[in-house]
Amino acid sequence: MKVDLTGRVALVTGAARGIGRAIAELLAENAATVIATDRDPDGAMPRLDVTDQAAIDATLAQILARHGRLDILVNNAGIGTGPADRLDIAAATDAHWHRVLDVDLTGVFRMSRAAAAPMMAAKSGRIVNIASVVGLVPLRLQSAYVAAKAGVVNLTRSMALELGPHGILVNAVAPGATATDTWRDWIDDAANDQQALRGRLLSHIPLGRAAEPREIAQAVLFLAAPASSYVTGHILTVDGGWTAGYARDF
Ligand SMILES: NC(=O)c1ccc[n+]([C@@H]2O[C@H](COP(=O)([O-])OP(=O)(O)OC[C@H]3O[C@@H](n4cnc5c(N)ncnc54)[C@H](O)[C@@H]3O)[C@@H](O)[C@H]2O)c1
Repeated sequence: MKVDLTGRVALVTGAARGIGRAIAELLAENAATVIATDRDPDGAMPRLDVTDQAAIDATLAQILARHGRLDILVNNAGIGTGPADRLDIAAATDAHWHRVLDVDLTGVFRMSRAAAAPMMAAKSGRIVNIASVVGLVPLRLQSAYVAAKAGVVNLTRSMALELGPHGILVNAVAPGATATDTWRDWIDDAANDQQALRGRLLSHIPLGRAAEPREIAQAVLFLAAPASSYVTGHILTVDGGWTAGYARDF
């Protein structure tokens, strides 16, 4: 898809790698001015931890001072799916729960609250949240992540209701399994029976493969584009059919 985002300023969180990097690259390829940020920045990228309210305020102030506007916010930063996060609920701790919720759900709230002010003043803006299919249909052993992403799904709808009258559209993309380096490291971890794990993971996906990060970014581009001007409060699954129904033989 080709879109003209000339003159639009976009902020992407968690953009040093994976899906966030692909989103930042695709928005820039479509002529947006992109501020790619991360907690662990890559190169000259600004450092922005979505759990740090002072850093969020400072970043927004810098963007407004330099560019005078913020048109697109992509809340992508996320944690909570690595091998160490796969916890039986009986073994999960308060500390783990709070850490995942703080980044994955409260981070979206904090960033959106900060971005909404200038967007409301401009009577225009797009917020795109990266949720997950597990926010719609849960997986086992990831209760904190699943709860956080379900929260992102309804926070998206709630913000769409509140911000729509101010000209701000709020949507989410819900990716299925996406082949980032983090994901590959996990699949390829020597501790796993890789073929069996890969087979189990992919067996319920009608398309039979994981997404490439750029395929998730394309959906974000659509939700940031002028063409989606009447779409708000929508959760766009990009999941190879994961949530379409029960895909295994019975
Ligand atoms: N990869 C998948 O299969 C998949 C599936 C569904 C949803 N998602 C979601 O997509 C988003 C991106 O995931 P990914 O797979 O690219 O992960 P990733 O681990 O490759 O990248 C996540 C990025 O977020 C950054 N980050 C982590 N905590 C942060 C914080 N507090 N503040 C700012 N940045 C922070 C990391 O440094 C990293 O660069 C996440 O919200 C994730 O939940 C991923």
